[in-house]
Order: sequence, then structure tokens, then C-alpha cells
Amino acid sequence: MAALGTDAKGEIDDSGIGDMDLSRLPVHVGCVMDGNGRWAGQRGLPRTEGHAAGEEALFDAIEGALVLGLRWLTVYAFSTENWRRPPDEVRFLMRFNEGILVRRRDEMHQKGVRVRFVGRRDWRVPKRLLRRIEEAEELTQDNRRLTLTFAFNYGGRVEIVDAVRALIDDGVSAARVNEQAISSRLYRPDMPDPDLVIRTSGEFRISNFLLWQLAYSELVFVDVLWPDFRRQHLFEAVREFQRRERRYGGVERPRFGR
Ligand code: IPE
Ligand code: IPE
Ligand code: MG
Repeated sequence: MAALGTDAKGEIDDSGIGDMDLSRLPVHVGCVMDGNGRWAGQRGLPRTEGHAAGEEALFDAIEGALVLGLRWLTVYAFSTENWRRPPDEVRFLMRFNEGILVRRRDEMHQKGVRVRFVGRRDWRVPKRLLRRIEEAEELTQDNRRLTLTFAFNYGGRVEIVDAVRALIDDGVSAARVNEQAISSRLYRPDMPDPDLVIRTSGEFRISNFLLWQLAYSELVFVDVLWPDFRRQHLFEAVREFQRRERRYGGVERPRFGR
């Protein structure tokens, strides 16, 4: 297997970047990795095989992020609503994510990836997985090339609920509640809002991903099922991002001379 950010010969593989304007990259890209079950279904395989096949997609996307020079990549791996799935699938996903951390941790560390998790670290998440999460975060905490955040047992609404609880615990009066007071109590206050969010599998929804932070994100929906996603899809989404005009509620940038 090639190391992250390199091709089989260990050289940087930047094929597919082409004429992209590297001075106008999104700082933070979020990814809703969806469609694993359908990918498996199309092949007559159990849903869990789709999740397993998603690992290659994820690491190719990470390589793409490294090649491009993205600084933040956040991937939705397990939502607070995914506990509704059959117990066998949930059990598989817990072990699978633990396995990824064990298998890939050193490789990510070597490439300067800082691994972090956002989500509720509650009793439902197996202790062994929580330990692996803490180990990976600790090992990679000083890396700065790319921050790879796994949204795991994550729900945007629950994150806001947790921030409101923290506000109350901190004794903040109603008059002092503002956006900054809430932002600073989210799970990772230093994480910039995503500029671009990609959702695979042709679904046009957010499904509780980073609700607060998505206020002005550019959304790109792609038909490809997650296990078929590769860095070229990431590059294509970034190109689409670069064609958009972000206005943040303002007006079009006035033309020169007006
Ligand atoms: C995304 O793929 C992975 C997780 C939600 C864990 P799905 O498992 O949702 O796949 P589909 O949407 O059923 O095809
Ligand atoms: C969103 O996908 C969650 C993850 C990708 C982890 P879902 O498959 O759970 O979302 P819905 O149910 O289609 O909205
Ligand atoms: Mg799905």
C-alpha cells in the first residue's frame, strides 16, 4: 500500500489537480460519507462489506487532501442517530473504527496528520474504542499538516445542547449569550467552519452534520457511493467550490471602477 500522499513509487501523486487555483483552496472540507449500504446491496453483499470498502475511499480522500494542501478535513463516521441500526451493524462499526485507528495511526502520524474526534464520548461507545481515540489524539496532537477530524457518535443538535449546558454550568447570564459564547463551547472551538461540505450517494440532506458550523458552507452533492469515492472526486468538488461566489448575506463584490 502506498504511503499517504504518495503514489506506489513513494512520489507525490498530484495527477488530477490540473489547473486548480491552489491559492483559493477551502481551508476546511467536511465529508458526509454516505452510501456504503447501497454499494454493498448492489453487489449482493452484506451492508458491513460496504463499510469495509469505505476505508480505501477514506484514505484516498485523505491522500488527496494532503496532495492539495488542505488544512482541515472532517469526516462523518457515525451519527447519534446511527444507534438505530441493527445491533450487528453497530457492533461492526465500533470494531471497524477501532481497527482503522490501530492499522492506520502510525501512517497518519508519519505524514503529519493530526487525528481528532468530535462527538459525545458517552457510555454507548465501547471503552476500548475510546482508549484508541485518546491514544491517536495524543500521538498526533503536535502535527499540523492536516487535521483529520472524525465525527463519531456526533450529532449537530446534541453538540448545541452540550454547548448550552456548558453555558448554564458556567453561569453565563442571558444578556451575555451571543454567537461567540456558543461557538467557544462547541466540541472543538478552534476548528474553523467548513468552507465546503461534500455528501456522497445522491442524498440532498445534512443529516445532523455540524449544524452550527455549516451556516455559510458551500454544499456539493455527488452521486457516487462512498466506497467508490476517490481523490479525483474531492478535486472535482474543490473545483466546483471555486466556481461559487460566497456572499455571506452581503451583495456581489462590486466590479472594479464602480
Ligand atoms: C454511510 O453509509 C456510513 C454510515 C452511516 C456509518 P450508509 O450505511 O448510510 O449507507 P446507505 O446510505 O445505507 O447506502
Ligand atoms: C449520515 O448518513 C451519517 C453518516 C454518514 C455517518 P445516514 O445514512 O445516517 O443519514 P440518513 O439516515 O440517510 O439521513
Ligand atoms: Mg446512509
